[in-house]
Amino acid sequence: MSRVFSGVQPTGNIHLGNYLGALKQFVELQEENECLYCIVDEHAITVPQDPKELKKHILDVAALYMAVGVDPKKSIVFVQSQVSGHAELGWVLNCCANTGELFRMTQFKAKSAGKESVGAGLLTYPVLMAADILLYDTDIVPVGNDQKQHIELTRDLAIRVNNKYGKTFVVPDGRFLKAGARVMALDDPTSKMSKSAVNEHSRISLLDEPSKIKKSIMKSTTDSEGVIRFDIENKPGVSNLLSIYSALTGKTIEALEKDYEGHGYGDLKKDLVEVVVESLAPIQEKYKEIRESKELIDALNDGANRAEAIAQKTMKRVRDTFGLGL
Ligand code: AMP
Ligand code: TRP
Repeated sequence: MSRVFSGVQPTGNIHLGNYLGALKQFVELQEENECLYCIVDEHAITVPQDPKELKKHILDVAALYMAVGVDPKKSIVFVQSQVSGHAELGWVLNCCANTGELFRMTQFKAKSAGKESVGAGLLTYPVLMAADILLYDTDIVPVGNDQKQHIELTRDLAIRVNNKYGKTFVVPDGRFLKAGARVMALDDPTSKMSKSAVNEHSRISLLDEPSKIKKSIMKSTTDSEGVIRFDIENKPGVSNLLSIYSALTGKTIEALEKDYEGHGYGDLKKDLVEVVVESLAPIQEKYKEIRESKELIDALNDGANRAEAIAQKTMKRVRDTFGLGL
C-alpha cells in the first residue's frame, strides 16, 4: 500500500476537466492506497483573497470532493492550515532551498510577469508544496503536468536533506494525470477547459444548472464537415465532445462514431447535454446534502486529527535532524 498525497486549491469553480482529469483518479486511488487529500488554503493566500470567500470556498471544495466519491472514511480529507506542520516544515525547507531555483520556476515567472512587486509567498509557494508532500512520507503525488517542476523541486529538497543529514524524508514520485484525458474548452477546443477563462460557456462547472449546461454545449465550437468522427487534429471540437461523452458513459469512441453515423452535430450535442446533466445530477444532489451538513465539518476535523498524528511523527524526526529545540 502506497501513501498518496495531493493538494487542491480552494477555488469553487471545479469543472468537468478537473473532474475527469483529476478527481475521478483520486477516487480510484483511494481503493488501494492510503490517500491524503488536502485543501491548501495556505497556498491560496499567496495571492490576495477575500477572507469570507476563502472560508466558504474551503467548504465548497471539500463538499464537492466528497460528492464525487472521495470518502472521508477511506481517505484523509483535511484543511492545510489545521495542521501546523505544513507551515513549520515549510520554514525548515525554505532554509534548504536556494533563491535561484525558486526564481526559475515557470509558475512563479508566469504569475509575477509584468508586476512591479509580488509577495514573497508567491516565490516560496513550491517550498510549501514540498512541505505538504514530505510531511506525510508520501510515495505518490497525483497532479497535473503543470506541477512537474514543483515535484522535481520536492524531490531535490528531500534528496539534498537526506544526503547532508542522513535519511530524513521519503523521496516521492509524481504521477502525472493523463494528457489524453484533457478536456478542452467548449468555445475553443484547441485550449484546455480552465477555471479562469472569461467566457463561462467555455466550461461546464460541476454545479452548473441544466439550462446552463445546455446552452454551453449547444453553442460549442465544431466544424463545417458535418461528419461525427474522432480526429483531434482536424476536428478538435467534435473530438472533444466525443471524449467527454465517452468518459462519462464508458462507451468507446468507436462505438459512438458508429452510433452517430449519418447524424448531424445537433443530435450529438443534444444527447451529450442529457449525458452531462444526468452525470452531474447525483453529484449536485449529494453536494447539497453534504455542504449543509454538520458531517462535513466533523469529517474535516477528523481528517485534520488523523493528518496531525502522521505530521507530528515527521516533525519530531525533522527537529532532531536539524538540531532544533531541546
Ligand atoms: P487546476 O484547475 O489547474 O487547479 O487543476 C486541478 C487538477 O485538474 C490538475 O490535476 C489538472 O491536471 C486537472 N485539470 C485541470 N484542467 C483540466 C482539463 N481541462 N482537462 C483535464 N484535467 C484538467
Ligand atoms: N500547487 C498545486 C496546484 O496548484 C496545489 C498543491 C499544493 C499540491 N500542495 C500540493 C498538489 C501538494 C500536490 C501536492 O495545483
